[in-house]
Amino acid sequence: MSEPLISAPLVFRDDGTPYSPRHDDIYHSAAGALAQARHVFLKGNGLPARWRGTPRFTVIETGFGMGVNFLATWAAWLEAAHRPSMLEFLSIEKYPFSADDLRAAHAAIIDEDAFAPLSDALASAWPPLEAGLHRLAFSAGAVTLTLAFGDAADILPRLADLGFTADAIYLDGFAPARNPDMWTPQVFASLARMSNYDATFATYTSAGQVKRALVESGFAYSKVAGFGGKRAMLVGKRAHIRYVIES
Ligand SMILES: C[S@@+](CC[C@H](N)C(=O)[O-])C[C@H]1O[C@@H](n2cnc3c(N)ncnc32)[C@H](O)[C@@H]1O
Repeated sequence: MSEPLISAPLVFRDDGTPYSPRHDDIYHSAAGALAQARHVFLKGNGLPARWRGTPRFTVIETGFGMGVNFLATWAAWLEAAHRPSMLEFLSIEKYPFSADDLRAAHAAIIDEDAFAPLSDALASAWPPLEAGLHRLAFSAGAVTLTLAFGDAADILPRLADLGFTADAIYLDGFAPARNPDMWTPQVFASLARMSNYDATFATYTSAGQVKRALVESGFAYSKVAGFGGKRAMLVGKRAHIRYVIES
């Protein structure tokens, strides 16, 4: 659990959108990283409304990247009138950035002042780039971030064995055609095992291979309006079997 990882280089396209040369894809919609996080991942999972009356809420994300989704979720939690006393966020990342690049990325793509202290806290707590689990705590321990550095296909079944569970799932690999490893039926099968009864998911994509893998793994999806010029995205939940008792 301690082999060094390959870190991601911080590269921007000419329009300022962070870009991965390895996957030939962008980290966020060019229409805005924070706006995408809010529309696709928070709203797509019914947050913050679903936090009302919940003592503890867990999010699992595939692809931590620059942590914009984590920062947006933490900021929403800080602002929410009704929120869980514990927010636990688990995110998987195979190619993490260095702490310095994380800071630089946030400075370039997040233009809301309220995020500066959150970005600084995250970069200051950033762990060494070693494979395995790294647990960080924020907001006096009420918000935890477990970073699982490694390949999603390897690490998700182990996290499921360890008993990690999800109330909301953020599916945020690069585009399925460019990053197929993040969208396999095996990845979804582990996420299905980790889903709590009312677990929901959201993703910016509506690709056919994702819909098929979701259904094969026991999730039910709906198509809703996408973000940043995308006509559709997917939201949904674990499909539960209904037992009908006949008399
Ligand atoms: C679209 S970006 C995620 C953006 C991120 N959620 C954010 O808020 O900044 C996709 C991420 O998936 C990671 N990734 C790609 N293949 C992976 C794999 N097989 N296992 C784990 N992470 C992977 C990439 O390194 C990249 O950081």
